[in-house]
Amino acid sequence: MISTEVLDVLQCPGCQGALFIGAARRPELVCEACETQYPIVDGIPDLVARQPTPMPGNYRTETLSNAIAGIFDYVAPVLSMAIWRCSPLLYVDLENRALGRANGGVFLEAPIGTGVTLSPVVAPYHDVQILGIDKSWKMLHQAAKRFKDVNARVQLIRADYERLPLKTGSVQSLQSINGLHVFTDRVITLKEFNRCIEPGGHISGSALVRSQEDVADVFLERYERYGIYPMLRSPQFLVQEMATVPFNDVRFSTHGAVMFFTSQTAS
Ligand SMILES: C[S@@+](CC[C@H](N)C(=O)[O-])C[C@H]1O[C@@H](n2cnc3c(N)ncnc32)[C@H](O)[C@@H]1O
Ligand SMILES: [Zn+2]
Repeated sequence: MISTEVLDVLQCPGCQGALFIGAARRPELVCEACETQYPIVDGIPDLVARQPTPMPGNYRTETLSNAIAGIFDYVAPVLSMAIWRCSPLLYVDLENRALGRANGGVFLEAPIGTGVTLSPVVAPYHDVQILGIDKSWKMLHQAAKRFKDVNARVQLIRADYERLPLKTGSVQSLQSINGLHVFTDRVITLKEFNRCIEPGGHISGSALVRSQEDVADVFLERYERYGIYPMLRSPQFLVQEMATVPFNDVRFSTHGAVMFFTSQTAS
């Protein structure tokens, strides 16, 4: 069931009202203000705001993620080493640093995918409340299997990162790994991240970027042409865009075709 600590940071993605655990036979969260009911399936609350006419870009990405969820853990490290030319071990460092920056508060991984980069490192962070958000049920179910036997406070949530079901300023450290290049609208998503992070809080993550590796560029060009990833850019472009949100003092480094970044919200 959802802990009170998690419930305290959640809000209705539709109207920002507070949520409570419903009294119906099937587990659900209910919005105090608009009375929308959000089912809890296998311990995962489904907090995607209902849209009368969903944008094709949104459900296509979700369908693609559902389709690849079963093989993602095997394919991602191979692609990383062979095409993007980035050691998968760098993600372990990135996760450890981001969990440490949560400093016993709330850590948000968005998107969490199958949890492949996060699950191996969470065990020592007993004091951190970990939230993992993704829109794909198949990815979330893979993640749930993975965290089942891990002794850590992890709550998976189905949500759209363009409309996070989290109170303003409720997150101390937000991590977005392979991340920025899948966002349909990067500025909207980054603004939403900025809203949820506390003043002076931390954001970090990684993204695939253009113009670093010739072989990677050939793949990225195909990805974009066939609509798999929407808007691939150079590292400098992404950093400038983050600064407009505004995120302060964005620092980055590139490893092959992967950019790693860290920044803070204004305090
Ligand atoms: C490339 S995977 C990265 C997952 C994970 N961070 C990793 O590196 O293993 C991108 C993830 O973004 C999720 N995603 C795409 N659009 C989303 C949205 N609008 N809201 C939430 N998650 C979304 C997909 O379901 C997918 O799991
Ligand atoms: Zn509501």
